[in-house]
Amino acid sequence: MGLRRAGAPAVMTGLPSSSTAPRGLHVITWGCQMNVYDSARMSDVLRPLGYQPVDTPDAADMIILNTCHIRDRAAEKVFSELGRLRKIKEARETTGQPTIIAVAGCVAQAEGQEILARAPYVDIVLGPQTYHRLPEMVARAARAGGAVIETDFPAEQKFDFLPDTAAPQTPGNLTAFLTIQEGCDKFCSFCVVPYTRGAEVSRSVTSVLAEARRMVESGVQEISLLGQNVNAYHGTGPDGDVWDLARLAYALAAIPGLNRIRYATSHPRDMDDALIAAHRDLPELMPYLHLPVQSGSDKILRAMNRGHTADDYREIVRKLHAARPDLALSSDFIVGHPGETDEDFEATMQLVRDVTFAQAYSFKYSQRPGTPAAGAPLQVPEDVKDARLQALQALLREQQDAFNQSLVGQTVPVLFTSEGRKPGQISGRSPWLQPVHVTGSPDLIGREVPVRITERLTNSLNGILEEEKVYA
Ligand code: 5AD
Ligand code: SF4
Repeated sequence: MGLRRAGAPAVMTGLPSSSTAPRGLHVITWGCQMNVYDSARMSDVLRPLGYQPVDTPDAADMIILNTCHIRDRAAEKVFSELGRLRKIKEARETTGQPTIIAVAGCVAQAEGQEILARAPYVDIVLGPQTYHRLPEMVARAARAGGAVIETDFPAEQKFDFLPDTAAPQTPGNLTAFLTIQEGCDKFCSFCVVPYTRGAEVSRSVTSVLAEARRMVESGVQEISLLGQNVNAYHGTGPDGDVWDLARLAYALAAIPGLNRIRYATSHPRDMDDALIAAHRDLPELMPYLHLPVQSGSDKILRAMNRGHTADDYREIVRKLHAARPDLALSSDFIVGHPGETDEDFEATMQLVRDVTFAQAYSFKYSQRPGTPAAGAPLQVPEDVKDARLQALQALLREQQDAFNQSLVGQTVPVLFTSEGRKPGQISGRSPWLQPVHVTGSPDLIGREVPVRITERLTNSLNGILEEEKVYA
């Protein structure tokens, strides 16, 4: 069971055996909400082996670094973190405590061999599609004298092999993520996801509904459905039909106790009339939608292979507002995609002025090796990207502040989820995801309660309870 590899420090004495004695597991999660979900599921599959979460890596018999590859210097960040973990592993091994280091997620998928070459103290490298095989990988890492790498896209779907836990998140949680779809077939010019997460796959309706019911039984009231292209969902229904996201949303909304449903991330091309109608019909669908547009220039949208124009986006937003007047939007933007001129950038600014966003993420274009845009001519100089990003972010910040300010004086339903930072305070979320703080009894945690908003802070709101009415 000894582990010795070229380049590995002599103090490495061996990995934990495969018995089910209690052991510490520390998962470090970077990136998107899907990685948060995946980390929880990795903890689930390791629990039967005796692994229990611990708060610090030094207390862990196994450390998983769940990585993100979406933007700049992703791999360098991973190697620098691995350097820190190596020291912890070496220190633990001087006291006879072996540590398994696993690298998971999209950097593992894209740079698996490089990780093993540059960080030979890593024991397991696994892509996002193979984590249901983790117990077997742990056993193999313990047995073999070398690292285990699993970055293929297996024929079996991991969702069919994951344990039926009550809910992947901590028991007692009121909100939870639920991955219903993964991967992407859209191949935007700038994006690594189709390569790291693979082809688009939807989970079956039965397994999604079963997981949602288990979550609700464990106390969850708000579920965020996740997928790289969540509104391209096309899962097989119990009737043999292919269900779209709209149909799934109606079925989820019928689960008693599931009061709030969100979904992310959507693509404008898949924002069809049925889904827009679901926003009209279902009060459970929260009036807040993350709908990345990336650019407001038709030329750049074409170069990005987005499959829609800026006016198509405006039209979708118009229909959404007609269906659900209080719906607010969030988005992603990229500035400095190859070929973007001042005029193209101005078209993005104009789209932002026309649509108005409650919140948004904006990024400088970063070249991702292997993607079409990385080798495109007319790369935009860094200082131009900087200036455009600053201008865009200033406008988006103004709109976010204005949106939050517009709620001051209004009464909104808040689902309280925790005690606040200040004594006597409780905190929750509005339908538009803003954190809201009030002075109130912890008994209200787990209830959706009307709150009059009194003040806008930088990234949250203060309010007072309107005690007569309680929604749930
Ligand atoms: N450069 C900059 N931003 C990117 N994103 C994805 N790939 C890149 C890239 N190469 C952004 C997009 C996407 C979000 C998750 O990250 O805006 O919607
Ligand atoms: Fe990436 Fe485009 Fe797919 Fe979104 S739709 S995951 S940006 S390729």
